[in-house]
Formats: sequence, structure tokens, C-alpha cells
Amino acid sequence: MPEESILIIGANSAIAGSLIQNFLDRKTVAKIIAISRSLPKSQSFSNKDRIEWLLSDYTEASIEGIVTSLKIRELVIDKVIICNGALHSSFFSPEKRVDDIKLKNLEDIMKINAFIPMVWVKNLKPLLRKSSRCSITVFSARIGSIQDNGKGGWYAYRASKAALNMFMKTASIEFRREPAEISFLLFHPGTTDTYLSQPFHKMVASTAIFQPDFVAKQLIKILDNLAYDGEIKFADWKGEPIAW
Ligand SMILES: NC(=O)c1ccc[n+]([C@@H]2O[C@H](COP(=O)([O-])OP(=O)(O)OC[C@H]3O[C@@H](n4cnc5c(N)ncnc54)[C@H](OP(=O)(O)O)[C@@H]3O)[C@@H](O)[C@H]2O)c1
Repeated sequence: MPEESILIIGANSAIAGSLIQNFLDRKTVAKIIAISRSLPKSQSFSNKDRIEWLLSDYTEASIEGIVTSLKIRELVIDKVIICNGALHSSFFSPEKRVDDIKLKNLEDIMKINAFIPMVWVKNLKPLLRKSSRCSITVFSARIGSIQDNGKGGWYAYRASKAALNMFMKTASIEFRREPAEISFLLFHPGTTDTYLSQPFHKMVASTAIFQPDFVAKQLIKILDNLAYDGEIKFADWKGEPIAW
């Protein structure tokens, strides 16, 4: 296997932390650039000499600045993994009904879950390896499936992941016209034990809640077998397709 450079955005996500460690355990990974709003919280990575941690507040200026600095260094990226996503915060819980909708919350969740990943993809284009080895993975969620919406509720999160899916589908069509063969994957990790899912664990059987390390290993397995065919994939942790 040739050596590869991996860029992980939203690197302080629990699943991103496990991805970083699993990639560091592979000799074929030459470099990991991790980007987040703050330095790693609790993770103490082993073999950390191959990680470079960069800080971003995810404004356009910050994203452009980071990409420019990587371009100057002639860094070529083989895999991009964008993990950003929010479902709740100290001032916001997912809406149960239409009456709970607030414009500010819709704007905030849309920005984190859909707009920021899209701005990264826009800016990263020139850094991507122009070969079928290259892939862009963005963490989506089954709940962003319009066909699969049987329960309703969670307006902002559902709509933001559906918007994310449309952004990436559209980008994948545009990238198909380029000579580079870049695969796109919208990944649903399944319910995973992280800050994001914690308030909702009582809604799920404990045996159905994954640990981040398991999900990271599943994603890496899927990426190892991802073959470019020009079609974006929307798939779960088993690699099984999800209805759009
Ligand atoms: N956990 C689940 O059950 C589950 C299920 C389906 C889908 N997902 C998706 O999986 C992805 C990873 O989530 P996780 O479960 O690992 O959750 P997590 O540990 O809570 O990670 C949250 C992620 O969102 C980013 N983020 C949070 N607030 C942000 C803000 N205000 N602006 C920009 N970025 C912000 C963080 O970036 P920093 O690194 O900069 O802090 C981090 O990457 C998300 O896209 C989530 O929607 C998770």
C-alpha cells in the first residue's frame, strides 16, 4: 500500500479521536492533519509524531488560511474525513414539534452540519490527490434520509443532514467532470457513545450503542474497499446503502 496523508476535520469528535488512533496504528499513514476548534481534550494518542494539530474557528477566513498554508507546503491529501455535527447544546434540544422551531437554532445547526463541511470541500479541492486513491468522507446520519423519515421531529438536525447530503451529492457530480477520480462517502456511524448522542441513550437498547473505536474500525474497513465509480455513497457502519 502506498503511503497516504489524511486530513480529519472536527478532530475533537469522539469518533474522530478513534479514527486518528486507528490510522496512527497503520504504517502506511505518513501524516494526519487534525483540525478542530480546540486542542485534543482527553485523548493521549500513541505514535503521535505523525499528527499535526491545527486550530480553526471554521470561519471562511480561517478555512482559507489553513488551506493556503497547506498549499504552500505542497501537501497532497489522500483522504478527507469531516466529522463535524451537532444535535444539541446547552441552549438547544432537538425539536419535538413545529412549535419548538426557532430560526436561530435552525441557522446554527445548518451552519455546523451542512454549511461548514461544504466550505471545507470547496477550499480543499486543489489539495486533493488526483487519483482514484482519493476520497472525501463526511459524517451524515440516517435521520437525514427523506425516505426513511417515519417518526418526524428533530427538524434542524434532520434537515441539516439532508442538506449536507444534497451538498455532497452536488459536489460529487461536479467533481466527476474533473480528471481526478475522487470518491465521496456520506457515512452514518449508527448510535455511538459520544457527547452528541448522550442525552438520547435511554431511547436505544444499550447493546445497540457502539463505542467510537468500533465505528472507526468499521469506517476504515469501508474506506479500504471503496472503489471509484463516480457515484456518491450514503452508507451506514456496515457499509450498507441508506435510502436518500
Ligand atoms: N454519535 C452518534 O450517535 C451519531 C449518530 C449519527 C451521526 N453522527 C454524526 O457523527 C459525527 C461525529 O459526531 P460524534 O458523535 O463523534 O459527536 P461529538 O463527539 O459530539 O463531536 C462533535 C463534532 O462536531 C463538531 N462541532 C460541535 N460543535 C461545533 C460548532 N459549533 N462548530 C463547528 N463544529 C462543531 C466538533 O468539532 P471540533 O473538533 O472542532 O470540536 C466535532 O467534530 C457528527 O457529524 C454526527 O452528526 C453521530
